[in-house]
Amino acid sequence: MCGIIGYVGKKRALPILVEGLTAMEYRGYDSAGVCLQDSGLVRVRASGKIENLRERLSQQSLGGTSGIAHTRWATHGIPDEANAHPHLDCEGQVAIVHNGIVENYRELREELEAAGHTLTSQTDSEVLAHLIETELQTSSGLTAIRRALKQVRGTYGLVVMFKDVPQTLFVARMGSPLVIGVGRQEHYIASDPSAILVHTRDVIFLDDGELAAVSVEGVTLMNLDQSVPKKQVERVTWEVATAKKNGEAHFMLKEILEQPEVIENSTRGRIDMIGTRAVLGGLRDVSDSLKEIDRIIIVGCGSAYYAGLVGEYLFEELAGIPVEVELASEFRYRKPIISTRTAVLAISQSGETADTLEAIREAKRKHALTLGLVNVVGSSVARETDAGVYNHAGPEVGVASTKAFLSQLTVLTLMSIYLGQLRRSLSQQKAGEVLAALYEIPNQIQEILRERSQVSAIVDRHRNMTNCLFLGRKYQAPIAYESALKMKEVSYVHAEGYSCGEMKHGPIALIDKSFPSVVLCPEDSVFEKTRSNMEELQARGGSIIAVTTNAQLVSHLCEDVIVIPETLECLQPLLSVIPMQLLAYEMAIARNFDPDRPRNLAKSVTVE
Ligand code: M6R
Repeated sequence: MCGIIGYVGKKRALPILVEGLTAMEYRGYDSAGVCLQDSGLVRVRASGKIENLRERLSQQSLGGTSGIAHTRWATHGIPDEANAHPHLDCEGQVAIVHNGIVENYRELREELEAAGHTLTSQTDSEVLAHLIETELQTSSGLTAIRRALKQVRGTYGLVVMFKDVPQTLFVARMGSPLVIGVGRQEHYIASDPSAILVHTRDVIFLDDGELAAVSVEGVTLMNLDQSVPKKQVERVTWEVATAKKNGEAHFMLKEILEQPEVIENSTRGRIDMIGTRAVLGGLRDVSDSLKEIDRIIIVGCGSAYYAGLVGEYLFEELAGIPVEVELASEFRYRKPIISTRTAVLAISQSGETADTLEAIREAKRKHALTLGLVNVVGSSVARETDAGVYNHAGPEVGVASTKAFLSQLTVLTLMSIYLGQLRRSLSQQKAGEVLAALYEIPNQIQEILRERSQVSAIVDRHRNMTNCLFLGRKYQAPIAYESALKMKEVSYVHAEGYSCGEMKHGPIALIDKSFPSVVLCPEDSVFEKTRSNMEELQARGGSIIAVTTNAQLVSHLCEDVIVIPETLECLQPLLSVIPMQLLAYEMAIARNFDPDRPRNLAKSVTVE
């Protein structure tokens, strides 16, 4: 969360900084700010989206060939201008931008205030500027920063500018990514490499515990323990795909509509129909280890976690491997029992989710084989896992995950087939059936998208609802959870996702005329049981929206029916989720909310 960009060189810094911030707005849009070296430190900040900052900047003419900038997702302190970064020390000698959380900021703040410092924000970050200011009395540059950071507990991606050292930026990393872009007589700093790849492809990825002084001439590195790390400049070869709305009103809609193509991209070159095989080059190097594993633990957050729950059914059915799915945010607090025969698979669109990264690090400490299923090429999860598979879904801009989720399900299907074949637990015939059915999915999604008016009619009738239950069984249970999450995050309707079997254990108490349920009930192996649950809802006066492959079988039980095409049970989630994404999107529009930038959220959650 939060985006950082810095520049030092010969060009005018401001346009580079604003462009970089714009590329990272998905990381947070509570406030934004810049600080430039223009005959002293000049700071401009604004609350809200980057366009507010841009407007403020347009009212003044700022020069300077070095500077730092930040877009914020609020953790400590309300999203107003006073809490916007960059933060300064008392004397305006030190400017900082910070990602992460200073966990002991309260104690540090009290000590600083007792020593006479006046802090002007409610943030945890501001203490860093004042700690460095204190250390400047007895030291300078990297040493002052290192000494200040020794007092800090928590995580940081930190960039510091000193008024008296105009052509140098100082950086430090602990648990929050930072990359240095190396140009000709210029350097860039960013929390997300994609923000600087338009300028340079030569980068230094900082590791935890590393600091650097970055000037026009070069980069001087140091560890927190004062040793000197050995680092190489790496060449980034992947492309930054640019995201455009393609004429649609919102990224969320555009990303829903492009899902047929997304499946094609996620499967391209990965299905060998002649050999009836899934081909996953990213797993080739670890195939011997994959033959030996006796368990998979899937970790992820939010939609990625729900994709993992579908993965659990897939891996167990197609590859015959026991699977557990864990919320990455809880994983390491449980003292997970991991052996060298455990594979830990991290699912993450961004590859930067702090909890997912920490789960992977925990798994590595315990010598598990670590795998990534990641959309953003070159992201931290991709770099820190032993092997993995990219989604190839293209950039996902909408905060609500849609096409990334779908591509996660697609790749999980391929991984299940790959593992089933590698371990000889999946017959050629079954693999062939699944691959052939997967091949049909893009057309079937197209069919659902053509019938979008089914969803619009339901939204018209239910736009004022305040609560909603989503129910599903077996493969559809995770889709019920995912659908509820989508509805909550973009339309602010209180929605709960439950497996049908759990309904009688509590949630059914909520049901009355004003509490509708969306029931995912394709004609699959558990259809009869799901239909019984619908009877139970109807008996209690609850209105039902059914998502089914066979309207005739359920229409007497529901007010509304959304019909989807039929496929294999293990692939049906790829179809049932589509109208649920549309439902959430259209509900947001009907209620006048911006689905691309829902309140209080950020696309990538880089703090724990
Ligand atoms: O980038 P990640 O896949 O690791 O993100 C995980 C969650 O933050 C993400 O899926 C979130 O729940 C989405 N906003 C859901 O739509």
